[in-house]
Amino acid sequence: MAKQSVRYVCQSCGYQSVKWKGRCPSCGEWNSFVEELVERGKILRVSTQAKVLSIDSWDEDSGERRSTGFENLDVALGGGLVPGQVVLIAGEPGIGKSTLLLQVSERYTRYGKVLYVSGEESGSQIAVRGRRLGISSQKILLYPETLFENVLEVLEQEEPSLLVIDSIQTLYSEKLESSAGSVSQVREVTFRLAEVCKEKGVPCFIVGQITKEGAIAGPKVLEHIVDTVLQFEGERYNFYRVVKVVKNRFGSTGEVAVFRMGDFGLEEVPEPSAFFIGERVNSPGSVVFPHTEGSKPILLEVQALVLPALYTTPQRKTQGFDVNRLSLLLAILEKEANVFTRDSDVFVNVAGGLSVKEPAADLAVALAIASSKKDKTIPEDTVIFGELGLSGEVRAVHFGDVRLREAQKFGFKRAIVPSSISMEVEGVEVVPVSNLREAVEALL
Ligand code: TYD
Ligand code: MG
Repeated sequence: MAKQSVRYVCQSCGYQSVKWKGRCPSCGEWNSFVEELVERGKILRVSTQAKVLSIDSWDEDSGERRSTGFENLDVALGGGLVPGQVVLIAGEPGIGKSTLLLQVSERYTRYGKVLYVSGEESGSQIAVRGRRLGISSQKILLYPETLFENVLEVLEQEEPSLLVIDSIQTLYSEKLESSAGSVSQVREVTFRLAEVCKEKGVPCFIVGQITKEGAIAGPKVLEHIVDTVLQFEGERYNFYRVVKVVKNRFGSTGEVAVFRMGDFGLEEVPEPSAFFIGERVNSPGSVVFPHTEGSKPILLEVQALVLPALYTTPQRKTQGFDVNRLSLLLAILEKEANVFTRDSDVFVNVAGGLSVKEPAADLAVALAIASSKKDKTIPEDTVIFGELGLSGEVRAVHFGDVRLREAQKFGFKRAIVPSSISMEVEGVEVVPVSNLREAVEALL
């Protein structure tokens, strides 16, 4: 066995030391050193049997893909799970990670046994959830264990077709002295898990709890070790859940799968647009924005509420939209379209709880604000998209065609779009605008 030693690495700059230090001598960061286990000579997993072949002679992936049992999740993953694929699924507590993985486990039993390792909940707690979901299969092996070396042993004995680790923060290796959940433990255990799963060709789901700051397992170190990172998002008190593919070595990133949390677990939502605009009431301040997640279009309702300020400092509050971007849009609205909100409170909400980060939403948000301010309704059958520049110009955005076709599919009759788009879509009047003022005049 190769000689193992312990070193301390600054999580801020990567400086290494044989002793723990309170302050990094290289970057000056305090309390940034964590223990790390090194095996001499082993830095990366390099197979001695690696072949050198020209790019066109390599197969696309290393084996057949297997279904997770959820069609939308398979599509988002690029066609199912690849043998030995290690998938990190990250999300806040209570969002539904364990529920999803128990459901996937049941559907995966068609390929053989599933080993579900839980350090978070006891076997009977999981069994209770299983009963609620109507799951009781002899092929799902529940293993409430936190010592990693034991998990490896059971993995060896049982030879499951799928491994679930719920969660990585609860597992620890006896080789390290630091406690479970520490950076070095999480990193060490994930690294060795990935190695074993690759060797055996067993795919593995690893649950990662998200910290308050939104980081996965503290630092983002895990993301480099695993093949795929899924981000589980949604409002805890809302029904919908979105699983976003943040990283994928076996498919494209940015893909999403939309679910609905019901009384009997998660159900796929094959038509997210219908779901998100389903409860819309057309009134001043409401606009439909054809959003894209990856290449998937989702129609969303953007709502704005503008009213006289309650205090001397007007409030700007958002849900699902960047508040700094809102300030910028308010400045552009004032300067370029004579829509004044400096004495008003402004609230922006993306209905359904999804958060929108793409600048293509600028024009829709700006017009929702103008619509509320002027107390005029934007026609119900209209969708709006486009990025706004600082001088009020409407800029081109990606996936114009995808957005327009989604609008067409849901019966929208008019689309306010950047002037660079000159597409014809049957049944939809495409109205190109070159600046914000033009858009405000066309609609309000
Ligand atoms: P859970 O999967 O335990 O979340 P996580 O593992 O991400 O912490 O459960 C999330 C929530 O979902 C929990 O508050 C209860 C709720 N829930 C339902 O609404 N319906 C169901 O069928 C189940 C199993 C859970
Ligand atoms: Mg859980």
